[in-house]
Amino acid sequence: MTDSITFPGEDRSNAARDVVAHQEPVALRTFTPSQAVLAKSAGCFHWTADGRRLYDYSSGVLVANLGHNPKSWLKRFVENFGWTPEIFKGGDGYAELVPLTAYNAITEVETLAVQKLLQSVQATHFGKRLDTVMWSASGSEAVIKALWACLHRDASRDIILATRGGFHGKKGLAGAVTGSETDANRDPRVRFISFPKDEIADHSQYGQPLDLSKYEAELRALHDEFGSRINCLITEPYLGGGGSYHPPKEYLQMLQRFCREHDILFILDEVQSNFGRTGKMYAFEKNEIEPDFVTLGKGLGNGVAVSGVVGRGDIMATLKYGEASDTWSANPIASAAVVATLDEFEATGVIKHAEQLTPIFFDGLNALKETGLIAKVRGEGMVFGIECADVNGTPAADVANAIVKACYLGQGDRGGIHFLGALAGKVLRVSPPMTMTLDEAKDSLDLLQAICRDLAASGLQS
Ligand SMILES: Cc1ncc(COP(=O)(O)O)c(C=O)c1O
Repeated sequence: MTDSITFPGEDRSNAARDVVAHQEPVALRTFTPSQAVLAKSAGCFHWTADGRRLYDYSSGVLVANLGHNPKSWLKRFVENFGWTPEIFKGGDGYAELVPLTAYNAITEVETLAVQKLLQSVQATHFGKRLDTVMWSASGSEAVIKALWACLHRDASRDIILATRGGFHGKKGLAGAVTGSETDANRDPRVRFISFPKDEIADHSQYGQPLDLSKYEAELRALHDEFGSRINCLITEPYLGGGGSYHPPKEYLQMLQRFCREHDILFILDEVQSNFGRTGKMYAFEKNEIEPDFVTLGKGLGNGVAVSGVVGRGDIMATLKYGEASDTWSANPIASAAVVATLDEFEATGVIKHAEQLTPIFFDGLNALKETGLIAKVRGEGMVFGIECADVNGTPAADVANAIVKACYLGQGDRGGIHFLGALAGKVLRVSPPMTMTLDEAKDSLDLLQAICRDLAASGLQS
């Protein structure tokens, strides 16, 4: 048990924080100094239990790409079940609706979700290998199922390659391919290769050619050591949880080339990037690569827990009846959310809209460097990382925490901004809903600038 975070004058929020602090372990959340208590949300805004309006710069954790509670999405979602106000009329009893759970059975909404998802990946022209969907309920489960499928194809091929500093989840094999070889209890089947970081540490370095020879040499050395034992390679299109590093497409294309040369299965983890974050519906499309498996999650259900692997059916077929089944995979609620999300993306042109937001965010975030609090800006599409600076003896990690807190407290009637705790110690992620209007984007960046300026002037006392 730990002391709960409190803020003066926030009676309702403090009461909620107190319950959580005493009846849930801290392990359930990553540390975020604001510990916001959210009472309601709409579009790109949250309202705290005590009534402060916050721009949401997190979208949950890159989940609510279409904004919070969009009415047209909600309408599509409930219609998939036949939920209408009428079902509550006429007393108690049961309603004749699509079941909320259909374990080991099939619902038509599941078949619709599969077909629409495959249409969506194949419409990119880079989805030739993506012909089958294996559902799951969280991002890490999607990663685990993709790895299971790969490992099942040939028991003599036991080595998994992963890119160093990545994040693929915390559970089981997903945790094993996260991080680096220095982590404790490392799974001996996993070997790491470098992901470019120094070369792309700031927006100003974008567009410069990347020397691939060092990465190619690492791959060659691993191939010399393990040969045909190498089964698969998993990477992210950009290091998300690892601190927001966005490589040029040549890097990912080089990984794919290596995989093809040696019959190694190529898994692209798009749990975070899928559904528009990089500026295209899928990052594999943006990077012009054709992975054997793509893992999807987060934005796939716009707030409903659903994930999955889309990829080669011939490899997935090596798993036998029941080997990838569980209570929640392909449940009707998840399927209905996927259908609603795909339909909404098709109907609304949100990705085109987000193209206009990208330069606004790059300008606004780069301008924060003038405050002295931000050293580097990275990103693409609608996902950015701002790396904090050491300021007059205050380490960057403390600067990041001070910004999160000051943004939560905001500026009177202008409200504040909701950030999650820093990534990689000192990087704050900026990933608002992609449906944010241009005016909301500019206003939120103005507010962020004002808060950072005041914080810098105060000597960092938030
Ligand atoms: C790229 C990537 N893969 C996998 C995961 C794990 O997803 P989950 O937390 O739903 O298990 C995440 C979560 O942040 C992620 O960013």
